[in-house]
Amino acid sequence: MAQTHDHHSSRRRPSLGRMLMRGTYAARQIARFGWFTGQRIAIERITKRAEGDAEEPAPAAVQPSSGKTKSADLLAGIRELFARDLANAEAGYYPLPRDADGTPMQIIARARAMFDDLPVSTRRREEADGQEIFRKLNEGGEASSLPRYYLQNFHFQTDGYLSDGSAKLYDTQVEVLFNGTANAMRRQALVPVAQFLEGKDQRKLKLADIACGTGRFLRMSREAFPRLGLTGIDLSEAYLREARRHIGQRYPVRFAMGNAEQIPLPDDSQDIVTSVFLFHELPPKVRAIVAGEFARVLKPGGVLVFVDSLQIGDVDGYDRILESFPGRFHEPYYDGYIRENLDKLYSKAGLELVSHTPAFLSKVSVYRKPE
Ligand SMILES: C[S@@+](CC[C@H](N)C(=O)[O-])C[C@H]1O[C@@H](n2cnc3c(N)ncnc32)[C@H](O)[C@@H]1O
Repeated sequence: MAQTHDHHSSRRRPSLGRMLMRGTYAARQIARFGWFTGQRIAIERITKRAEGDAEEPAPAAVQPSSGKTKSADLLAGIRELFARDLANAEAGYYPLPRDADGTPMQIIARARAMFDDLPVSTRRREEADGQEIFRKLNEGGEASSLPRYYLQNFHFQTDGYLSDGSAKLYDTQVEVLFNGTANAMRRQALVPVAQFLEGKDQRKLKLADIACGTGRFLRMSREAFPRLGLTGIDLSEAYLREARRHIGQRYPVRFAMGNAEQIPLPDDSQDIVTSVFLFHELPPKVRAIVAGEFARVLKPGGVLVFVDSLQIGDVDGYDRILESFPGRFHEPYYDGYIRENLDKLYSKAGLELVSHTPAFLSKVSVYRKPE
């Protein structure tokens, strides 16, 4: 579209199309931020008496820096993330974000379901009980083929990753936790994928998203790269069902239930491997095994695009927030994760560092398998 030129100054004004794009983006993201932050504030008020006043802010509790101790200005972090998200869309890395949260009725129903679940998840939090699923399976004498570390109530969520109910609530809970920024953080991983695909024929290339959960990243990938061959792998059948529902028939994606420790894909078969918010839920030894699996399934010259929490020392002022997270949300491996040397881990697996890019409370890391 033609640029409008101001005769009185040499500065360019954005075109009408660009202004519309920015307005649409702002309207959508401000509405999302308000919706999820509102729920977060309501939850904090409801649970406050039970928990007592927390000394540390919850991970994305929006509050400006105190001035006394150096703490992150989370609102500034969110603004910066959204500005980058919009700039990426304007640069053509991905389409203008839509988020695909569902119809207004579905969005309200999920919020209601989350509030209905609040008394039980709050009780678990008060009792610091992250082992309910494992206990129940044991009491019922049920043998599970799932790994022991997996059979926990991460975030104190009801049924852990093992039920359709949990899969329905998961994305609302994550967006509430991050003030509506979880999708924007995931989208930052589309940039290195787009850069890798530049000048290549997508129809001949494959991307596997390991621990794809409810498929939010896969749907974004499908919308950004319509011809790319996509596979989603996860250990949870319930989350895979929700991923299939979320992606729908219009966007064919192959799904398989599988453990990231033994990815059900052949050696050297994927051009791109992605993994979003998995590693902080894995014990250290398992992280090393999974890193080896990412390297195994990648083709020589292929890339790993990896997203997880920021780590200690990544961004000034954020360390205290990272350190306070695991106690409040039953994340038994998080503290170890934020201190893990990812470059060393992936180098042992045979992958070379390309880049690290912090994105609000997350970080996108890219590694390459040598030719
Ligand atoms: C925090 S969720 C992240 C899901 C998704 N990638 C996202 O962006 O929200 C962690 C996911 O990892 C899956 N998961 C955990 N351990 C796994 C393993 N060993 N193999 C495969 N999937 C695993 C869980 O079932 C869950 O869907």
